[in-house]
Amino acid sequence: MADFSDRVVLVTGAGGSLGSAVARTFYAGGARLVLAERSPEKIAAALPEIAQDADRALVQAADLTDPASVVALVQVALERFGQIDALANTVGGYRAGTPVHETPVEQWEFMLSLNARTAFLVSQAVIPPMLERGSGHIVHVAARAALSGGAKMAAYSASKSALIRLVESLAAELKHSGITVNCVLPGTIDTPQNRAEMPKADFSKWVAPEAIADVIAFLASDAARAVQGAAIPVYGRS
Ligand SMILES: NC(=O)c1ccc[n+]([C@@H]2O[C@H](COP(=O)([O-])OP(=O)(O)OC[C@H]3O[C@@H](n4cnc5c(N)ncnc54)[C@H](OP(=O)(O)O)[C@@H]3O)[C@@H](O)[C@H]2O)c1
Repeated sequence: MADFSDRVVLVTGAGGSLGSAVARTFYAGGARLVLAERSPEKIAAALPEIAQDADRALVQAADLTDPASVVALVQVALERFGQIDALANTVGGYRAGTPVHETPVEQWEFMLSLNARTAFLVSQAVIPPMLERGSGHIVHVAARAALSGGAKMAAYSASKSALIRLVESLAAELKHSGITVNCVLPGTIDTPQNRAEMPKADFSKWVAPEAIADVIAFLASDAARAVQGAAIPVYGRS
């Protein structure tokens, strides 16, 4: 595991199943953390010890669909720690189950907002301070389902595909800047929510949040300085 002790990492969705694993991984690597959630109480509940370590962790409420909230998040992070070396954006979600002709337009828009707009806004906000420093790592979380559309999941699949295209465009724009932009493509993650929703599945085939967190940490480290615009499968055994 890379040494992050001189690094500041912004983890969004840090109270979620993957986000909390990502926060723990960077914390174990010595990073100072800015932990963002719509409801910060979620972070206090998921990461009690880290959230209480005021020297190394700042817990901040932010709605990543809201441009002003995202700008405020980055501002507060910079005021507190002076820099953002890496962004690990885990915000996102899943709604599916109906064919296109039965899917409410609100669901289409919700998916694009939650999975693509959020990544667009938070990338926009962290890039200027990273450009100033001439370095930075941005890691987003797309999904295996981004690679091809499947039945009854058009909105989800399209929104995660949009995220991959965003990552590729950012990578092309930033390749001379010292900033890397990549994403991971999880298969089904072994989360309490998935276990509750699919109790008969073989959980051993699913990918553990900690295993994805290790890949995200690698992409946020200087060891991955030559990796640019990648969409890395993290499927576990599924
Ligand atoms: N779980 C899977 O099997 C799977 C598979 C492939 C990809 N992924 C992707 O992996 C990532 C993490 O998934 P997960 O299972 O860990 O989900 P999760 O537990 O729901 O975590 C996502 C976190 O993001 C927060 N969030 C949602 N909207 C937000 C907003 N507008 N502003 C700020 N925070 C917001 C959620 O908080 P709230 O409670 O407030 O909504 C939640 O804490 C997501 O991008 C997901 O699409 C998951």
